[in-house]
Amino acid sequence: MSALQFQLLKESKDSMARRGRLTTPHAVIETPVFMPVGTQATVKTLSPEEVMQTGASIILSNTYHLHLRPGEEIVREVGGLHRFMNWPRALLTDSGGFQVFSLSSTRKITEQGVHFRSHISGAPLFIGPEESIAIQNALGADIIMAFDECPPYPATREYVSDSLARTTRWAKRCQTAHERTDDQALFGIVQGGMFRDLRARAAEEITALDFPGYALGGLSVGEEKPLMYEMVEFTTPFLPKDRPRYLMGVGSPDDLFEGVLRGIDMFDCVLPTRIARNGTVFTSRGKLVLKNASNARDYSPLDEACDCYVCKNYSRAYIRHLLKAEETFGIRLTSYHNVHFLVTLMAQIRAAIEEGRLLALRKTFFENYGYQVE
Ligand code: GUN
Ligand code: ZN
Repeated sequence: MSALQFQLLKESKDSMARRGRLTTPHAVIETPVFMPVGTQATVKTLSPEEVMQTGASIILSNTYHLHLRPGEEIVREVGGLHRFMNWPRALLTDSGGFQVFSLSSTRKITEQGVHFRSHISGAPLFIGPEESIAIQNALGADIIMAFDECPPYPATREYVSDSLARTTRWAKRCQTAHERTDDQALFGIVQGGMFRDLRARAAEEITALDFPGYALGGLSVGEEKPLMYEMVEFTTPFLPKDRPRYLMGVGSPDDLFEGVLRGIDMFDCVLPTRIARNGTVFTSRGKLVLKNASNARDYSPLDEACDCYVCKNYSRAYIRHLLKAEETFGIRLTSYHNVHFLVTLMAQIRAAIEEGRLLALRKTFFENYGYQVE
C-alpha cells in the first residue's frame, strides 16, 4: 500500500477545475480542499472536535515550529503528531524552508541547508533537506513537504534561477532521506518566482523526480493577485494530471475560486484564524469588522446564509461584546465561523464542479461578496 492515492473524479469542460479524492492513512479527502492551519499543533483557539465539526479533513502543521518547541522527539515518543494533538484525521507538515525565511533572523543559505537563529531562544540552528525530512518522519504527518527555498519578491532572475536549481537538488536529497514511504507521502515544490521560463524549468525538474503530489510555492509573497493567478495558470499544465496540486499559503475566498479554476486541488491559509483573532469574519456579503459600532445592537447572526454552530446560537452584538471585553470565547467563535466558512465554500465549489456550474457559482458568490466581477 502506498501512502497516498489520488483519484481524479471529474475534469471541468470550461476551466481547468478538477474534482478528486485523496486517500491517506488517516482520511479520505474530497478535493479541492481547504486545509486550516495548525502551526503549533493546534488550530488557534479551536479544539480538534471543533475543527472536525467545521468539516475539515486535513490540517497543516509546521516542522519549523515543532522542531523548536516541543522538539520532534517528544512528539515521536507519544506516538506521533496525530496522537500528540488528538487529531485522528489527516495531517500535512510544511518542511520549514518557508518559515526559516519568514520568522528567524540572520539566516544563511549554503548548499547543505540553512543556518539560522531560533526566533524563540536566539540559539543558532541548522536545517537542511535531511534534517527537515528526519523531523517530518518523526512527526508522522500523512503528507510531508520537500525542503525548499522560497525566494523573496521581488528577486532577480539570476537569484531565482540559482535558487530553484538548489531547490531541485534539495528535493532529490529529501527523497533519499525519506524513510517512511509506506505511510507518509512526500510532495515536491515548484518554485521559479514570477518568471514563466523559470517556473517551467522548475516544474520540469521537480516532476522528473516523480513525487506523489506537487505544490506551487513562492506565491502570495507580495505580488499582485493577477500576477499570482497568471503564474498558477501557466504552471499547472506542466504538472501530471493524476497527482494532487497544492497552492501553498493561499486561501482567501477569491483565491480559492481562482486557484480551483486554474487546476489547484489543495489550499492552506492562516487568513480565517488570523483575521478572526482581530475580530473580522467572512460572510456571504463580504468581510465584517465586528468591533464597528454598527454591530452593537445587531442581534442577527454573523452570516444569515451560514448554518454553523456560531451562527445558529450567537448574535453579532454578543460576539462584538465578547471581543471588546477581551473575553477569549469571542475569538473562539469568530475562528470557528471563519474556518467553517472556507471549508463550506470549498464543499460548494466541489458540488459546482460536479454539476458543471463552477463559473456560475463564482459569479453569484463574487456579486454577493462584493468582489469585482469581470
Ligand atoms: N508556504 C507558503 N509558500 C511556501 C513555499 O514557497 N514553500 C514552503 N515550503 N512553504 C510555503
Ligand atoms: Zn457561521
